[in-house]
Amino acid sequence: MKLIQRPRRNRKTEALRQMVAETDLRVSQLVLPLFLCEGKGQQQVISSMPGIYRMSPDVLLQEVGKAVALGVKTFDLFPALSEVHKDPYGKESLNPNGLLPTTLKMIRDKFPDVTLISDVALDPYSSDGHDGIVKNGKILNDETVEVLAKMAIVHAQAGADIVSPSDMMDGRVGAIREALDQEGFIDTGILSYSAKYASSFYGPFREALDSAPKFGDKKTYQMDFRNAREALREVELDELEGADMVMVKPALSYLDIIADVKAHTHLPVAAYNVSGEYGLIKAGAKAGIIDETRAMVETLYSIRRAGADVIFTYFALPMAEWLAAHRN
Ligand code: PBG
Repeated sequence: MKLIQRPRRNRKTEALRQMVAETDLRVSQLVLPLFLCEGKGQQQVISSMPGIYRMSPDVLLQEVGKAVALGVKTFDLFPALSEVHKDPYGKESLNPNGLLPTTLKMIRDKFPDVTLISDVALDPYSSDGHDGIVKNGKILNDETVEVLAKMAIVHAQAGADIVSPSDMMDGRVGAIREALDQEGFIDTGILSYSAKYASSFYGPFREALDSAPKFGDKKTYQMDFRNAREALREVELDELEGADMVMVKPALSYLDIIADVKAHTHLPVAAYNVSGEYGLIKAGAKAGIIDETRAMVETLYSIRRAGADVIFTYFALPMAEWLAAHRN
């Protein structure tokens, strides 16, 4: 053939492919979500998430040490509480001596340089399994936001660098910003789950926290997967309310949303490679359908290529190991 253009020339060798690669991923862009449980010496299996455990604070501290050694320095903490600590108002979320605040302090003391993100939502504390206060089958917005703002202060006092509202109530970013500022936490950041969709991919997370809704679903607050422009509206509002970073969640069925958001905001864009996305790769590898490492690498690069600056992923440690072994 008489071809002038032969795109394959640029793919000829590994060195050449590395030279023209358009997407880079740094270990510092990975965030490791961690599930906390009460007790000592606890490392509890989560059957739908092989390799991920609920850990008591002592075990979790070791895990943080392991992560730091691999270059992963940002953690997002979720507490798994026993039923006795759950009620319709999520009161335990405001206990400064609760599991999450005390663990935040422990990590902060032992690892002063890491970045600690704390999840702000009621679901770990709610006997209804919802992200807000429930009344007559409805999730109350404004009453919930009041609690979230107080929760954010508890987390900031305990040493969180960034609070991360994942609840999707209206107006919560502004209320949290105001509350933090009033208490003098002007440097505590807000990473908002701006475009969080009502998704089937959160199943394993809800197993991890035993936090599935006791009735109904989350569709009156989390977004409809058919909508894209609405994500930009949510991002815009969060920007106006003072968010420091915005997030799209889940990641894989929403790569277009990540790209849209990236094109519309000047804030760092995070994406959450959620529990179901993790569990599916694990299960697919176990079933012999895909190669786990290659699927992990391809997945995380695709999220980065779509525009994510920060990626929350349960693969943070194996990916950090892979990146260390593949310097390019
Ligand atoms: C709840 C919350 C959820 C996740 C993070 N925060 C689940 C939900 O909204 O039901 C999901 C994370 C994952 O699936 O990995 N506030």
